[in-house]
Amino acid sequence: MSTIQISNLHYQYPTSDFQLAIDQLSIADSLVAIVGQNGAGKSTLFKLLTGLVQPQKGAVKINQRNLATLTPEERLRTIGIVFQDPSSQLFNPTVEKEVAWSLSQLESDAELVQATVKKALASVGLTKLKDQNPFDLSLPEKKLLTIATVLAINPQIYLFDEPMMSLDWPSQRLVTDLMQYLAQTGHQVIAITHDMDWAAATFSKMVALAAGNVVFEGTPTNFFSCPEPVKKAGLLPPRIMTIAQEVFNDHHVYLTPQDYAEKYPAHQ
Ligand SMILES: Nc1ncnc2c1ncn2[C@@H]1O[C@H](COP(=O)(O)OP(=O)(O)OP(=O)(O)O)[C@@H](O)[C@H]1O
Ligand SMILES: [Mg+2]
Repeated sequence: MSTIQISNLHYQYPTSDFQLAIDQLSIADSLVAIVGQNGAGKSTLFKLLTGLVQPQKGAVKINQRNLATLTPEERLRTIGIVFQDPSSQLFNPTVEKEVAWSLSQLESDAELVQATVKKALASVGLTKLKDQNPFDLSLPEKKLLTIATVLAINPQIYLFDEPMMSLDWPSQRLVTDLMQYLAQTGHQVIAITHDMDWAAATFSKMVALAAGNVVFEGTPTNFFSCPEPVKKAGLLPPRIMTIAQEVFNDHHVYLTPQDYAEKYPAHQ
């Protein structure tokens, strides 16, 4: 599994006063959620983690190597990116060609490319749409297609910016299962999300941002047991915690309804 080390990172857009400033942040967990209110700097951090944007100061190191020194090919094999808006990533005439495109930059064996594309499309349930134009797909299908393009490359790290947005429930389930499978098979999955129920249920580490700074890093249990950083990050705890507080005046941490039922079976 990879380790991402951020040190003395500083980034400012040329046309905005916003500053992202992170002194030290180490990410060595397999399932990491980046959370925080609108404008906190989540997508800015995401762009810096992709290596497509360079910080004015400091560095992002992946397994001890500065991201800025990776060749484009090494970067493709290291970090896979799923942007918030799938349309910004699609440009090929068919679904199949879309998935094959990035992989073909790395792999010259046409048979291997074809077999890998087939497998990636099957993993996201898009096999039947392989000859369609990507722009004729629905929004959830486009999102699943961008995920397939990354799965085909099989990078060490998967970055998702708000992956659940615009997905229906079955697709959300599919993407969550895929993320868990990736984590179990030695990959690192980092996702930006506003959904605290999903974050609490799915991730082992949370990084909370507020006004361009990290205000918390640690497990979901620790995060939701500290009202201060949760408030600073402009977030609410998982709904089950709010219900326990309001109905039973119970102020314990519960990440999921199952967690609640296991801790307090008498309340069922
Ligand atoms: N391209 C840009 N040029 C100038 N300012 C920008 C640019 N992109 C983002 N910003 C500003 O940087 C700040 C952080 O934005 P960012 O997109 O990182 O926030 P976010 O946490 O992802 O928010 P959201 O939850 O709304 O997606 C905001 O004040 C935003 O207006
Ligand atoms: Mg964002």
